[in-house]
Amino acid sequence: MPKLNINGRIRDVQVEPDTPLLWAIREQVGLTGTKYGCGVAQCGACSVHINGELQRSCSMRVSDVKPSDKIVTIEGLSRNSSHPVQKAWLAVDVPQCGYCQSGQIMAAVSLLKKNPKPTDKDIDEAMTNICRCGTYQRVREAVHMAAGNGNGTRARSADRASRRS
Ligand code: FES
Ligand code: FES
Repeated sequence: MPKLNINGRIRDVQVEPDTPLLWAIREQVGLTGTKYGCGVAQCGACSVHINGELQRSCSMRVSDVKPSDKIVTIEGLSRNSSHPVQKAWLAVDVPQCGYCQSGQIMAAVSLLKKNPKPTDKDIDEAMTNICRCGTYQRVREAVHMAAGNGNGTRARSADRASRRS
């Protein structure tokens, strides 16, 4: 029986080795914050971190992951939505339908780990998640806020000004 290390707990999953990791996370472990969107690594709804790297779990097989690999899902980011990125998301009121937002947050956390002060361009290039509700502007605003740039709108203005100069 494959074993997965998810959010710091070892989980036994009763699946075939070629089962997409996403289904093991959702259906075997019951962590449904990670979503199924496209199933072909295009939309980012299924994003998780594996050993600190952003990964699209719909396109990984359970057999691609070792028991020692540390998988973190949206549920493992924090207790009570207290991660700075989650707090910024709430402050900016980013979600509309919400379906893509777990993946957006996982991508934002990954981006900020690598680039603590991203510009709009950096955000657009790094975050290729698709949002059918079109929350892209608020996503940018929340990433700036989580980066400590205070109000995201001001951060965007400063970014535009710096690109003009
Ligand atoms: S469901 Fe995995 S990228 Fe769309
Ligand atoms: S908030 Fe609806 S798909 Fe992104």
